[in-house]
Amino acid sequence: KVETSFAETQGSGGETHQVAEGDVAVLTTQQGVPVADDQNSLKQGARGPTLLEDFHFREKIFHFDHERIPERVVHARGYAAHGFFELTDSLADVTRADIFQRVGERTPAFVRFSTVAGSKGSPDLARDVRGFAVKFYTKEGNWDLVGNNIPVFFIQDAIKFPDLIHAAKPAPDRAFPQAQTAHDNFWDFISLTPESMHMIMWIMSDRTLPRSFRTMEGFGVHTFRLLDADGRSTFVKFHWKPKAGLQSVVWNEAVKINGADPDFHRRDLWDAINAGDFPEWELGVQLFDEEFANSFDFDVLDSTKIIPEEILPVRIVGRLVLDRVVDNFFAETEQVAFCTQTVPPGIDVSNDPLLQGRNFSYLDTQLKRLGGPNFTHIPINAAKCPVSNFQQDGHMAMTNPKGRANYEPNTWGPVAGGPREDPVKGFRSYAAEPDGPKLRIRPESFADHYSQARQFLLSQEPIEQKHIGDALVFELSKVERPDIRSRVVSHLVNIDADLAATVADGLGMPVPEAAQAARPTN
Ligand code: HEM
Repeated sequence: KVETSFAETQGSGGETHQVAEGDVAVLTTQQGVPVADDQNSLKQGARGPTLLEDFHFREKIFHFDHERIPERVVHARGYAAHGFFELTDSLADVTRADIFQRVGERTPAFVRFSTVAGSKGSPDLARDVRGFAVKFYTKEGNWDLVGNNIPVFFIQDAIKFPDLIHAAKPAPDRAFPQAQTAHDNFWDFISLTPESMHMIMWIMSDRTLPRSFRTMEGFGVHTFRLLDADGRSTFVKFHWKPKAGLQSVVWNEAVKINGADPDFHRRDLWDAINAGDFPEWELGVQLFDEEFANSFDFDVLDSTKIIPEEILPVRIVGRLVLDRVVDNFFAETEQVAFCTQTVPPGIDVSNDPLLQGRNFSYLDTQLKRLGGPNFTHIPINAAKCPVSNFQQDGHMAMTNPKGRANYEPNTWGPVAGGPREDPVKGFRSYAAEPDGPKLRIRPESFADHYSQARQFLLSQEPIEQKHIGDALVFELSKVERPDIRSRVVSHLVNIDADLAATVADGLGMPVPEAAQAARPTN
């Protein structure tokens, strides 16, 4: 309801003062002191100067001066909503995770969608991967499933992530182009990184131009582990399937929409939820054991690979519904902090070298972005189950230990002595055997960069395949250096000769001999 009438008076400069009366709250300083005049600073004489003594003026300005915090180093532009996860099929046989035990039980959730490369003010419909990050507030602690709308990634090892992102963001000297793809630096990096080819097929497909957040799939990408009460492990890949179906726009539409309404996706989510048309996804899992994992010639620890659903169908185990917009964008959407290693008992990480790096990176960046070690006290990040430990102090500490003891073990008794470990309920990591000596190498099982890229391309409808070819021609046509273009085309030859030839033709380049030889002659 919009309040339209206030008691009004006129100030000495003719300005309008709207004053508290009846149900209208009194304006106060941060210290709670009622404010009499919010429109004129305190001056020495009618024409100034303004006095340092004016604490209300100084507080208002100093607070404004400090409103900005660093935007996320990636996924800066995002939009989020509240909802719940409801279990429809119990996973109690493979995991002790509380969220997966009781069919019908609901767990509160918060979901942030994002683009990766653009800054906080960039348009929604850039050709880019979309983040799909879910925080579940489970009864045994938070679980963050920090996924994307594409099931694979550009690189196999987290040590390459800073290079990938530097290459994708605006060039350091000219600070353009802002788009991820139409970019010499980006394609230069890609042309030297064959492991990115599977992801490139997805990036150039319609998946990176979603019609709406509501019509995107989501993927946990990595192989994770589920653990039962005895510590037995089952590998798992997580999938989100949109109830509204998978829908995209085409490039031509994306360009126009970006110009006409850069907030297209956030407006769509806000409007849908407020209209009661709640977006919904099914949660699916692919469950498998070590023996199944070893049956492939690719590695399930390699994030540039999927496990095809024809080989291992996705089992639907629950639904996610978003039914409430945020009260405040900054407090919730900006300050939410996800981390791949925020996992409750029963869920654990695998040795995927990309995931291992992420486990370090999120916490590290959030310490800076959110100003110190107490960001778990911010309501959007706080667990909704009891939290009790001896961590204390630091900037903005809100939940210091109460009472005498702030250490353990101690002899202050069961209440005054504070919390204790629980060997049964507590989180335990999977007791994996170490694999061998310390080495800085990539295993042979990570070596095939082209088979799944081809599989994805050929799984697409003819019109979708055409869009992939068109997108490659468009993006590479913006690349100034011919050697970069031809290096990319030579990778395409290893994926599909027709695609390589189409792109070479489109760029006015000679079709590589290898592509000519591989094409049918009719
Ligand atoms: C942020 C997904 C790889 C570092 C995010 C966000 C998502 C995401 C969804 C946004 C979280 C939010 O909404 O607040 C992924 C996926 C990856 C991947 C699916 C690969 C499978 C990586 C890697 C690193 C990394 C390899 C670093 C080694 C970061 C950082 C942020 C971020 C630093 C910003 C977090 C913050 O400031 O709160 N990622 N990411 N990501 N990601 Fe990743």
